[in-house]
Amino acid sequence: MRAEFQFHPAERPLPDDEREKILADPGFGRHFTDHMASATWTPDAGWHDLRVAALAPVTLHPAAAVLHYAQEIFEGVKAFRHADGSVWLFRPELNARRFAHSARRLALPVLDEELFVESVTALVRADRSWVPPYDGERSLYVRPYMFGSEAFLGVRPAAEVRYGVIASPAAAYFAAGSGGVTLWVSENYTRAARGGTGAAKCGGNYASSLAAQVEAAEHGCDQVLYLSGDEHRHLEESGTMNLFLVTADREVVTPCLGTILDGVTRTSVLDLAVEHGLKAVERQVGIDELRAGCADGSIVEMFAAGTAAVITPIVGFKGNGYEQVVADGRPGAATLDIRRHIVDIQYGRAADTHNWLRRVA
Ligand code: COI
Repeated sequence: MRAEFQFHPAERPLPDDEREKILADPGFGRHFTDHMASATWTPDAGWHDLRVAALAPVTLHPAAAVLHYAQEIFEGVKAFRHADGSVWLFRPELNARRFAHSARRLALPVLDEELFVESVTALVRADRSWVPPYDGERSLYVRPYMFGSEAFLGVRPAAEVRYGVIASPAAAYFAAGSGGVTLWVSENYTRAARGGTGAAKCGGNYASSLAAQVEAAEHGCDQVLYLSGDEHRHLEESGTMNLFLVTADREVVTPCLGTILDGVTRTSVLDLAVEHGLKAVERQVGIDELRAGCADGSIVEMFAAGTAAVITPIVGFKGNGYEQVVADGRPGAATLDIRRHIVDIQYGRAADTHNWLRRVA
């Protein structure tokens, strides 16, 4: 692989004992490693100043495009430590491909997919001591991002763009972990509509999800279940995860792509389904069908999938005037089996028969 991201070691990395204390209980997204990767793009020079150097604040002109028109995209990739101490990324090329897709949708310059993987690899290698120990399902969550940094108030694609990668040691995204979460079926908010940015991983999608997330919390739920923007009838995704249900006749069903994110964990679930005796089905699922299926027992499990959340069982959902428990309100067997399979591949405990892992250290 080309070595384009030159490494400039931080002068004052965090002392070992402080880092180890953080790694023992990292939470999610609260602590950051010693380094970051960065690069700048301009129309004349293309991508330049590619480096991995000390983590530092980003200085922006107050007129920077991202601050006004939200020209921004990001990704989430995880690095895992195996029992022998080695460090591995999980399917980073899928993140690279999605990042390129998001860039096109937000009129940002496309970063070569190999360069994306190189930047993530170079940062994880530089900060490999920040990858938590093998035990306890912790990992290093890596966050590549890109935004328009040109100082200009006209509405057009920025002529100066920055790329960065930061990393944060992580434990479970939800406090409930694999115990299960509940969803609020939002009727007031939609996440995406045809022709919009639903399939792009852009900050704007998450900004507009916050009010819905607050509404979910007010109803005692952990996350939002979004319905389609047109008729408000079909399941889309959850704020930070793709949705799945398992039927009594052994189908694992997920909404088709179009206005939702093409999740790496979503794809992995579909790829592994057959190994769990399940038929993978991508199709539209109506909220009425979901409610009726949970009530009459033809839908026996629900779960959500995402890089941060891995596989999170959904144990119930609520909407205006109704509340539905999924099966007996406990995580389902197929959900937990698929979860264990993916996690075991990630930590090197199960054979990586699909060649999904990339060794970085
Ligand atoms: C991820 O799962 O990587 C996400 O991007 C979700 C979230 C933390 C925004």
